[in-house]
Amino acid sequence: MSAGVVVVGAGQAGFQLAASLREAGYADPITLLGDETDRPYQRPPLSKAYLAGKTDAAGLELRPAAYFADHHILHRPSVRVGSIDRPLRRVLCADGTALAYDHLVLATGARNRALPVPGADRPGVFQLRDRADADALKAALGEARAVAIVGAGFIGLEFAGICAARGLAVTVVEAAERPMARAVSAETAAFFTHAHGEAGIRFVFGAGVVAIAGDARAEAVHLRDGSSITADLVLVGIGVVPNQELAEAAGLRVGDGIRVDALLATDDPAISAIGDCARAPSRFADGAHVRVESVQNALDQGRCLAARLVGRPVAYDAVPWFWSDQGPHKLQIAGLATPSDTAVIRPVPVGLCVFRFRDGRLSAVETVDRPGDHMAARRILAQGRVLSPDEAADPAHDLKALAVGALAVGR
Ligand code: FAD
Ligand code: NAI
Repeated sequence: MSAGVVVVGAGQAGFQLAASLREAGYADPITLLGDETDRPYQRPPLSKAYLAGKTDAAGLELRPAAYFADHHILHRPSVRVGSIDRPLRRVLCADGTALAYDHLVLATGARNRALPVPGADRPGVFQLRDRADADALKAALGEARAVAIVGAGFIGLEFAGICAARGLAVTVVEAAERPMARAVSAETAAFFTHAHGEAGIRFVFGAGVVAIAGDARAEAVHLRDGSSITADLVLVGIGVVPNQELAEAAGLRVGDGIRVDALLATDDPAISAIGDCARAPSRFADGAHVRVESVQNALDQGRCLAARLVGRPVAYDAVPWFWSDQGPHKLQIAGLATPSDTAVIRPVPVGLCVFRFRDGRLSAVETVDRPGDHMAARRILAQGRVLSPDEAADPAHDLKALAVGALAVGR
């Protein structure tokens, strides 16, 4: 009997691959190995509706138990894969079992970067990646009065918005000079600095955290300039590192992610990698290999790989896009910008619309509270339509008309 497809990592990408394989008619065994206790679930609500108490654990699940049985997808929770035996095509699990594969998919995601300062492991200091983290944070929020957040990235700002809405004192400490510097323009960063400021959130930019102090629990965050922020709850959200050690130990090429080609294959044709852990070439990065941390990327790479595994190979070419809900605002980004890309603001009556250009070509579009413009931008980028900076800045230049005829890319 065929060993089928074995997937390491039962997260967003691993689950999608399994589901897409079955949808495409794949008939051999599919085994999803995951080291978490839960059935595959979505992470975005962890920093949004779940943390705010608006949805429960069942509301996070990607599919109910019956789906796995009906589709003959064997999900094995609480199983950590410790190594890959490439010559014998099998994985070795931490519980001592071995499992053979015809094709192995690494969908191991990423983990939070640790803050390397004294006191970072003190009670009262939290991070947010999985449901257990969210549960611990939710419980602590009930008691908290003053919150310090280290890192003004997506996690930090979404959490800041939730805390401010609960009336807590919130200070965000960021190493860079503005929030979300990796992902958005100075203009979009300024919009959110202002909006969060209006909600009472205090920012300290250009800050270096040197220690988290306290007795039994965290009481203050000490900064390099000698100042400190009093807080009884500290959330650290300073980015992620890809889970690439399995691949590295197996001799596969890694470097800020598991290196794959346009078909999402590693150097070993029997092993592929998808999602947060994979570094794939992208036309949106001028052909360079990039690692994208988003739900869209996890879903589209899962679908793309499934197509190849049933004999319909297509190069991965989906438009990157993602969203972030911060306070009352929805940020949406289509495309991939680098920090040096220029920014062109399109005058709009509500929210914000910023076009990014690299070497005169449209690279990304950042919108706030403008879902229609975001969808048009995704179509324009998918089609590679030409838009000049002058046209982008002209509110009379019809974006939707430019997007008409483009393939439906919005799933
Ligand atoms: P993951 O979902 O992380 O899944 C990987 C799984 O593999 C994990 O369960 C991990 O424990 C497991 N694993 C790792 N190593 C092993 C091993 N050796 N053996 C067995 N199992 C293993 N993205 C957006 O686009 N929009 C959002 O609004 C958004 N909000 C987010 C909010 C939060 C709080 C977080 C943490 C992330 C958010 N993201 C968001 C990012 C998005 O969730 C990730 O990009 C996505 O989950 C990546 O999917 P993945 O399958 O690659 O990795
Ligand atoms: P991030 O990379 O978005 O932001 C990290 C921030 O921390 C950056 O602004 C960085 O300059 C700052 N930083 C780094 N080291 C620091 C230090 N020592 N002191 C102070 N600041 C420091 O990562 P974040 O917010 O932790 O998110 C983690 C993961 O979750 C990412 O993969 C992200 O894409 C994902 N996520 C995505 C969301 C979305 O797309 N809406 C929402 C929440 C999380």
